[in-house]
Amino acid sequence: MNKIENTNIAQATAHFENLLREQLARAEKMANAQPPKDFKTIDKITVGFCGGDGIGPIIMKETRRVLETLLADELAEGRLIFKDIEGLTIENRTAKGKAIPDDVLAEIKTCDVILKGPTETPKGGTLESANVSMRRELDLYANVRPVTVPEEGIDWIFYRENTEGEYALGSKGIEVPGVLAMDFKVTTDCGTKRIARAAFEYARKNGKTNVAIVTKANIMKKTDGKFSKLCHEVAADYPEITAEDWYIDIMTANLIKKGRRSQFQVFVLPNLYGDIITDEAAEIQGGVGTAGSANIGDCYAMFEAIHGSAPRMMEEGRGEYANPSSLIKASELLLRHIGMTEAADRLTDAMAACDKEKAVVITNHKDGATCKEFADYVISKL
Ligand code: IPM
Ligand code: MG
Repeated sequence: MNKIENTNIAQATAHFENLLREQLARAEKMANAQPPKDFKTIDKITVGFCGGDGIGPIIMKETRRVLETLLADELAEGRLIFKDIEGLTIENRTAKGKAIPDDVLAEIKTCDVILKGPTETPKGGTLESANVSMRRELDLYANVRPVTVPEEGIDWIFYRENTEGEYALGSKGIEVPGVLAMDFKVTTDCGTKRIARAAFEYARKNGKTNVAIVTKANIMKKTDGKFSKLCHEVAADYPEITAEDWYIDIMTANLIKKGRRSQFQVFVLPNLYGDIITDEAAEIQGGVGTAGSANIGDCYAMFEAIHGSAPRMMEEGRGEYANPSSLIKASELLLRHIGMTEAADRLTDAMAACDKEKAVVITNHKDGATCKEFADYVISKL
């Protein structure tokens, strides 16, 4: 073996040791976690708004207007506080060289929950995704993504593990230039049990009878093998619910199989599979612009659209025709999370009425309604 190879191996081994220590420390911290925040005991709830990039500020402005109408009483009484958080923009993040600049993160941490517009993630380079960073910094371990197609009997909810898997060390892989590159996937016991618990609890509280555990445990034997095994251990506490193992490849096929797909109810999956399959599911619902996403931790929670910042729409001057539905749906999830169920139901009904009547339709192009017109339409149905 030549000298260069030995140097590479020594460097990579040292790097790997650091990663292992870092992840062991994270696992230990998880094991000592505080009990979850109970919103019933909080009389003033602060909601932070981060507009984000591209179409983000446009859909945020209109979503906020809808919420201000819906929650006028709560805001007037001071039970809810709306707070604008500036600076989670690609310009500021690039200038500071940080996925979430320190002052922005400090502001975010003064809120109980966050509503966030899409943030741009540069391909390559060293700037980490703001989403991934926020999920990690606030330990938002459950990415909850509902998808419904009532006319087909589809009522799915995805519990995607949100802090580990392929994402934990996604920007910390190893490379031997010109020869190979390796990334790492991390699955911890605590991290798996808490997402499994969240999925089965949801199933129990909502009368669901089936949870699909989706992995590729036949290939990723250590990480996905652990994920599946621990999900079954948690499932033992929920004897009324059937826990079924599925591989991600056949599950993606099943989701486009009419008749079969409506039989699935709750899904629990590792991070990357959850990322991919929830885009597929959202498309079945009517497009990624129609789905909201909750990122829930024990202390904080962040709610967002599942789509990106749509740079092409902005370049082509179509930003004002962007669809705010995903962010409005994310706000519904936010309201349910903080226990404002009645307001959430009113919003759900208004959105459903718009969807059914279709008097104002967004196409993302100039032949359709603007984001503002759509928000007015939703407000008219509240
Ligand atoms: C999502 C997005 C993010 C992810 C990106 C923006 C980092 O695709 O929320 O699904 O990969 O998780
Ligand atoms: Mg995604």
